[in-house]
Amino acid sequence: MKWSTGRMFSFKVLSDTVIVVRGFTGRDIFLAKGLDFLAGYKLLVPQLKEFLPLKPLTGDESWGAVMASFICTRMIEKFHGTMLGAIAAGYDAWGDEGTLDLFRSVNEIIFAVSLPLAGCQHFAKDAEAIRTLIDIFARLDAGSGPSSLILPWVPTPARVNRVLAGLQLYRITKNLVQERQRLGVDVDDPLQTLIRQNYPTSEMARFIATILFASVTNTANLFAWTLVYLELHKEWKDRVNSEVTTFLQDTGLHASQNLRDDMAYVPLSLMDEKLHTIELVINEVLRLLASGPFIRRNIGDDLVVDGVHIPKGAFIMFPVEDLHRNPKMFPNPDVFDPTRFTAENVEQRKKYGTTFLGWGGGRHPCVGKRTALLEIKMMTILLMAQYQFSLTDVTDSPLCEIPRVDVDRLFKVFGSKEVVNIRYRAKDR
Ligand code: HEM
Repeated sequence: MKWSTGRMFSFKVLSDTVIVVRGFTGRDIFLAKGLDFLAGYKLLVPQLKEFLPLKPLTGDESWGAVMASFICTRMIEKFHGTMLGAIAAGYDAWGDEGTLDLFRSVNEIIFAVSLPLAGCQHFAKDAEAIRTLIDIFARLDAGSGPSSLILPWVPTPARVNRVLAGLQLYRITKNLVQERQRLGVDVDDPLQTLIRQNYPTSEMARFIATILFASVTNTANLFAWTLVYLELHKEWKDRVNSEVTTFLQDTGLHASQNLRDDMAYVPLSLMDEKLHTIELVINEVLRLLASGPFIRRNIGDDLVVDGVHIPKGAFIMFPVEDLHRNPKMFPNPDVFDPTRFTAENVEQRKKYGTTFLGWGGGRHPCVGKRTALLEIKMMTILLMAQYQFSLTDVTDSPLCEIPRVDVDRLFKVFGSKEVVNIRYRAKDR
């Protein structure tokens, strides 16, 4: 390993160079034009191209645009009711009272909620199919560390398992597409758009995997961590609770006998605008919890950015903590303080340029941000309106400290290393 400019360093993995860029200079290098996003992102989707004819993607710009066109406002509005239904069904399965593993239960609900966006609404009511898909994703994820990007051909057991999981997903996608073709189904969803444009099945499997990866893990873990932070910061739990109460009153939903159905008539723009406190909390949780390096690759010619030489083919990693934990922009960075994200405080940080990458930035902002925020807001409203709840640890004692985070791979919102339970009881409505 050799140190380069300042705190940056590079090292070699066989013939590949990996440059870890740090601080503001690192951020600027990372966001610079000319670095390829897909080279990093493709890690999260099955490596089918070794044995299947994948239509090559023409540059990462086009990829972002394709994804953004699928996860557009029209689609979110179209599936709003279906997504609410999936959340309501998930909570119904909890029953009136009980104790459940928080991260696991939330993950199952968000998985079902995300299926329509990936063209798999077909499975949303099939608990067995959802479990199979969750298992496929766990196996794909387990084989997706930075090393599998840099040394993709080393057949570790996790990677072999990952390829098998990719193939299983490919088969499921193929059946899904063939079933639609056989029945002459022509629904208005992202998958049908791919079918109409004659994308190969392997590409469609990749799309499904990407959407589910991008949406499920991050959204589910972020929601679960939000509840954890609220539990340990009761003043914020009270503030979010009263925001939900006010929202229900302002929209007339407080008197509803059928909240989940009636909520579907509330314009999404009201959820965007009126649930500001929960958004402050979500961003602060994301600042504290999202971790692991962002990754890019230089697929063009050699580059020199800010005096740093980035050879053709080099991988570039940027640890997001360099921004999110920087005391200059976020004083007392380990302290949970959602007011950091008020409009006034965000404005004050603008002099530093990009300071928060929780939702990506530069040429690759997260195209699912609105969807994720809406899902978390819907989950929060239905949870707070319907249940009294508290969190406990593995011994069923009240949770009294933030559990350890299970960080081991590329950037994402990781789960908890320790079991966190949610103990709940239905409210009388
Ligand atoms: C809490 C939930 C989420 C978080 C924290 C999150 C975060 C991020 C971040 C940090 C990036 C940029 C990664 C990078 O630059 O290397 C990104 C990109 C992306 N996200 Fe999200 N995301 C979330 C949910 C979603 C959802 C629900 C979807 C889709 C429905 C989605 C789709 C995408 C896509 C397609 C990109 C790539 C954009 C491009 O190609 O330019 N994300 N996300």
